[in-house]
Amino acid sequence: MTAETITTREAGSPGLAFPDGFVWGAATAAYQIEGAAAEDGRGPSIWDTFSKVPGNVADGHTGDVACDHYHRYAEDVRLMTELGLAAYRFSVAWPRILPAGAGRVNAAGLDFYDRLVDELLAHGIAPYATLYHWDLPQALEDAGGWAVRDTAARFADYAAVVHERLGDRVRTWTTLNEPWVASFLGYCSGVHAPGRRDPAAAFRAAHHLLLGHGLATQALRAGGAAEIALTLNLSPVIQVDGGEREATLVDGLMNRQFLDPALRGRYPEDVLDVAARHGGLGHIRDGDLAVVHQPIDLLGINYYNPSFVSAAPAEPANPAFPGTEGIRFEPPTGPTTAMDWPIEPGGLETLLVRLSRDYPEVGLLVTENGAAFDDRPDGDRVHDDDRIGYLDGHLRAAHAAITAGADLRGYLVWSLLDNFEWAYGYHKRFGIVYVDFETRRRVPKDSALWYRDVIARNGLGSA
Ligand code: FCB
Repeated sequence: MTAETITTREAGSPGLAFPDGFVWGAATAAYQIEGAAAEDGRGPSIWDTFSKVPGNVADGHTGDVACDHYHRYAEDVRLMTELGLAAYRFSVAWPRILPAGAGRVNAAGLDFYDRLVDELLAHGIAPYATLYHWDLPQALEDAGGWAVRDTAARFADYAAVVHERLGDRVRTWTTLNEPWVASFLGYCSGVHAPGRRDPAAAFRAAHHLLLGHGLATQALRAGGAAEIALTLNLSPVIQVDGGEREATLVDGLMNRQFLDPALRGRYPEDVLDVAARHGGLGHIRDGDLAVVHQPIDLLGINYYNPSFVSAAPAEPANPAFPGTEGIRFEPPTGPTTAMDWPIEPGGLETLLVRLSRDYPEVGLLVTENGAAFDDRPDGDRVHDDDRIGYLDGHLRAAHAAITAGADLRGYLVWSLLDNFEWAYGYHKRFGIVYVDFETRRRVPKDSALWYRDVIARNGLGSA
């Protein structure tokens, strides 16, 4: 795939029905909502360490308390029930299960997810468990983190422990969330934990994450897991000056670096060229790609926005994209969210159609899509029409992709709750439910009530 184009659709359009059985849900991640960081035997993760270093996270925010979901999970499941969610995607905190990353299993950590899963099932909500949403046990980072091969094997061991306990009730398992972010923001630009700035380590981390995905998939299959997914952050890359060489390279680094090994068993040549110039390829051993390339049931797609680039010979490499000297990442020109991310629903349609064309053997699930806006409560309500507009547009795009033949099985909004938005701390609110971070009170925003109606009618009403 080279230069992309995206379709623009009018808002305020007719009602749309989604296919029968389309799965509607919401997503969260452990470190962003749980809190209870030092409770019941949980060990430290790289995000505990990273967030405590001044300057890493806005205003020194940490996930120590977050939404206090660890204690309030039953209330949160009640909220999900009121919205009519069919599925809830959460992540398991590795350091709750294995406080030192390997070795001793912490029974109290498993007990928490056991309670959560039972509560979900009691309310008819399917639990979708993600095994790695970025909270690597600090002990494993101290031993080299994802830049060393052993971490992949430890991840598979951990996957087996969690599956053994929850596999009788959890059908859908996601190995990794967004390995590009974990490797290139964590080990290259350093804006995420563990905060390293070493391109060679980032390419090694990317490979070991993929290897960990393959090994964990084998372990989950051996344990009888019903449905296995890999979630990637994917973004159509559009070259605004009419060329395509630069867009193709960025697409390789961000998208194909993960899609092709996982779904085709090979790395794209353009990505190997860049990696070879940044530390070499010695970490990729014979047989690794066969392990990475396990049959999976679902590709999880986290889509927020397309990326815009142009050729600019004097430009230095982007800190998160080694090898991109001469490429400018263009700022958005149209409407944006509070993250300054462009609002381009058509990018989701482009992406879904491309994926179903290029990787037809795997089912598709939107595992994250949503937007941050500067929400403010108004009495007992939070009026977030901008978020409703964002979600409406993206659901229309998803529907158009289905009509064009994409095998899209469901949509999970990011996020159920306002939460700890990584380096932005609590300043960026992605929730459809507002959280007051003083009192931890939850208030469903207008978008939550709107989403409840979408779910109830399995589609969009006319606007
Ligand atoms: C994704 C992450 C998720 C959240 C959203 C806004 O990259 O998977 O945890 O931070 O972005």
